[in-house]
Amino acid sequence: HWRALLLLRLLTALHFVSEIICEAGIVYTTGSFYSPYAALFLLTIVSAALVYRLVGTLLVATAVNGAYVAVVWINYGLLTGRPTPGAGVGALTGGDDTLFYSTFLHILIFYLVAFIAGYLAQKLQAKDRLLDSASAELYRARLATGDILRHLNSGLLTMTGRGEIIFFNHAAETILELGGTEVSGRDCRAVFAGRLGPLADGLLTALASGQRTARREINIRDAQGRPLPLGISTSILFDTDGAVRGLIAIFQDLTQAKVMEERMRQADRMAAVGELAACMAHEIRNPLAAISGSVEVLRNDLAVAGDDEKLMSLIITETGRLNKMLSDFLMYARVDRTRFQKIEVQRIISDTIEIIRRHPSFSETMRIEVQADTGLTFISGDADQIKQILLNLAVNACEALGAAGGVIQFGAAAITDPDGERMVALTVRDNGPGIPIDLLDKIFLPFFSTKKKGTGLGLAIVSRLIEAHHGRVEVSSILGHGTEFRLYFQGLGGDDGPARHAVEADFVSAVR
Ligand SMILES: Nc1ncnc2c1ncn2[C@@H]1O[C@H](COP(=O)(O)OP(=O)(O)O)[C@@H](O)[C@H]1O
Ligand SMILES: [Mg+2]
Repeated sequence: HWRALLLLRLLTALHFVSEIICEAGIVYTTGSFYSPYAALFLLTIVSAALVYRLVGTLLVATAVNGAYVAVVWINYGLLTGRPTPGAGVGALTGGDDTLFYSTFLHILIFYLVAFIAGYLAQKLQAKDRLLDSASAELYRARLATGDILRHLNSGLLTMTGRGEIIFFNHAAETILELGGTEVSGRDCRAVFAGRLGPLADGLLTALASGQRTARREINIRDAQGRPLPLGISTSILFDTDGAVRGLIAIFQDLTQAKVMEERMRQADRMAAVGELAACMAHEIRNPLAAISGSVEVLRNDLAVAGDDEKLMSLIITETGRLNKMLSDFLMYARVDRTRFQKIEVQRIISDTIEIIRRHPSFSETMRIEVQADTGLTFISGDADQIKQILLNLAVNACEALGAAGGVIQFGAAAITDPDGERMVALTVRDNGPGIPIDLLDKIFLPFFSTKKKGTGLGLAIVSRLIEAHHGRVEVSSILGHGTEFRLYFQGLGGDDGPARHAVEADFVSAVR
């Protein structure tokens, strides 16, 4: 690179030298001292100013002067028959005043032009550089602010002290649904008329007050006429002399936030109702226990028979059902703290299987299988709650299989989700009748049940406990083929032993 630069410099210098030699030749042949072509030297000097700065131009002018003086000397020497430069010098400084002063004037003019041209060129160059850096700076600044404003999710607008809109960002256009309307330069009262009227009023009041306002709410309407709450804050821009120059307003669409707020309020209310219901359930359970206990005693003591016996049993079974309902409900409503511990999944599954095999809905016609990764799988969770989840799913599976029986399968697998996070998937599957597709999104609702004696709280409890574990539950079902519930939990390390890497495939082991 520097070689090319050096070559370029050399060539330019050579160019000027040859130019001067040519011009000197022309001047010499056209009468030297009397030649009108001495003005050609000026061209060289001015063009040198474009290339070199002041000093360079003065150097070129010196070369020009040398050439000019040489031409005049030589010519004069020839004219006077003493063709040596030495004689010329003598002549120049000797008698002929016109020649001396005229040459001197030429030299002076050449230097003067060189100085002026060089000086101006240098000034111009400096200005150029300044302009370049200033425009680069401007470009960068514009890029930064432009980017910020473009990617801002909030609406932003600025207006003058007279209410004329100057700037209006894209988000503002979207929020106010003003796409395509010319806004900048127009009066805000004209732009925000009709459904946006309250916004114009708000902005103008803020401007008139001359004070910044903290966030407040303005209710306008969207293009379809629905209410659109805006959260808006404004700042006043002041001139250096304290006069109001304009206003900046920043605003957001609060619809989503309002919905969330309402949902929170509702959740609060639900929690209060739930607490109340839980208290009631407790209160009911005690007299209920007294009733069923008393009836039990009466049945033995009174030795009732026939229809009376049937009625007695009805009381006992129905109080039992009520009791179950109440305890399920209490389980659902109770907000037990989830105590997170490192849990070994396979252990929880075998504990659950122990319980389910003693459960009344389990029968000998059912087979329980476990399908799990060979390595130990750990999750962080509350052992009791996870056991409860698996139990509820397993009881449902038993009830779905019914007397005909079938297979209940538990699964555990360590997986990596698309975000690269380690997860553990637990599955409970049965080959029962399945769930009709239109019921799939209802089964997790509290009190939804298709069973005559169901409470409809089993899956509601499952979803609540899963939520407490920051997990996720999915269900898939094929009518006539069976149902699978998949639970996803945050995985934990700790099974990095060689066994896990050696055997990748799942294995199936029959527990029964
Ligand atoms: N494994 C399953 N197979 C078929 N249906 C199921 C299964 N699990 C749940 N269901 C359906 O979901 C409903 C709700 O279940 P759940 O909340 O446990 O309440 P309950 O068992 O008291 O009915 C059940 O009534 C049933 O219709
Ligand atoms: Mg159930």
